[in-house]
Amino acid sequence: MGNESCEAWTQNAMNEAMTDDPLTSFRLDDRLIIVTGASEGIGRAFAESFARAGASIVLVSRRREKLEEVRAVITDRGGSAEIVPADVRQIGQLRALAESVQKLVQRDHRKLVLVNNAGFGFTKPAMEVSEQDWETLFETHVKGTFFCSQQIGSLMIERGYGKIINMSSTWSVTTQAGKSVYCAAKAAVSQLTAALSTEWAPLGVRVNALAPATTTTDSANERVLKDPARFEQMRSRIKLGHFAKPSDLVGAAIYLASGASDFVTGQTLFVDGGFTT
Ligand SMILES: NC(=O)c1ccc[n+]([C@@H]2O[C@H](COP(=O)([O-])OP(=O)(O)OC[C@H]3O[C@@H](n4cnc5c(N)ncnc54)[C@H](OP(=O)(O)O)[C@@H]3O)[C@@H](O)[C@H]2O)c1
Repeated sequence: MGNESCEAWTQNAMNEAMTDDPLTSFRLDDRLIIVTGASEGIGRAFAESFARAGASIVLVSRRREKLEEVRAVITDRGGSAEIVPADVRQIGQLRALAESVQKLVQRDHRKLVLVNNAGFGFTKPAMEVSEQDWETLFETHVKGTFFCSQQIGSLMIERGYGKIINMSSTWSVTTQAGKSVYCAAKAAVSQLTAALSTEWAPLGVRVNALAPATTTTDSANERVLKDPARFEQMRSRIKLGHFAKPSDLVGAAIYLASGASDFVTGQTLFVDGGFTT
């Protein structure tokens, strides 16, 4: 508020609210958005949609050739995208990612947004889970989300502004047999979201999470939707009566990436058709 009186501040805030087009704050034209796990599924849908809303995109995953396909779709539509192949479990590769992002942001001075989306899931009885299963899942979801946030977050902190969106899941607060490791990892992602938001809010960095219910990506179709009994069991828990499509999550992702959500931090936003109610 500075030296402004409380009355003047309130009046200015009211004027601002009345004169600005409220939808402008949802545009992403001034943003550089780094999407991990952008080669397919939800991450690909986010990257393509963010580009259509005006953002420049940095596409990250392990498979360069799949990222090239996504970049071609974005640039054919007039958008802009760079590719940085990286495995989010490898801190050295995340440092290299941050160096690439640093160069891009020095060139066009856009605001930084990071979407920690890279991941995978499995359903396995707890008694059959191996050390390797545990480590791969936790390294991808929890270590990957943490160190990617640390590396890109430091660029955001230098600029006094940034937004991080972590992919959580309805399994962060609900359970099902065979989901122990995935549930634990996604609960960790949501709690990491809250903890980082507390530490970085004073530095201008907002950290939120999105928590979808089962979403019809190729990998989810392979895991869940091919098994009729499991399909029906899962579907019956969704009050809106159907699984999400990646496009059902896009509005919430644009909201969290845009200036429209600048007063929101530390939250896990459930986009789940009523699954968790
Ligand atoms: N689909 C669902 O039902 C659902 C529901 C709730 C939450 N989620 C979460 O949403 C996110 C995306 O899920 P999805 O269904 O879209 O998955 P997906 O279709 O299997 O895509 C996963 C993406 O992550 C990338 N990836 C995996 N491991 C990586 C690693 N170590 N380093 C870098 N990239 C990696 C993959 O690319 P490369 O193979 O090229 O590396 C791919 O682009 C995940 O975090 C998932 O847990 C999904």
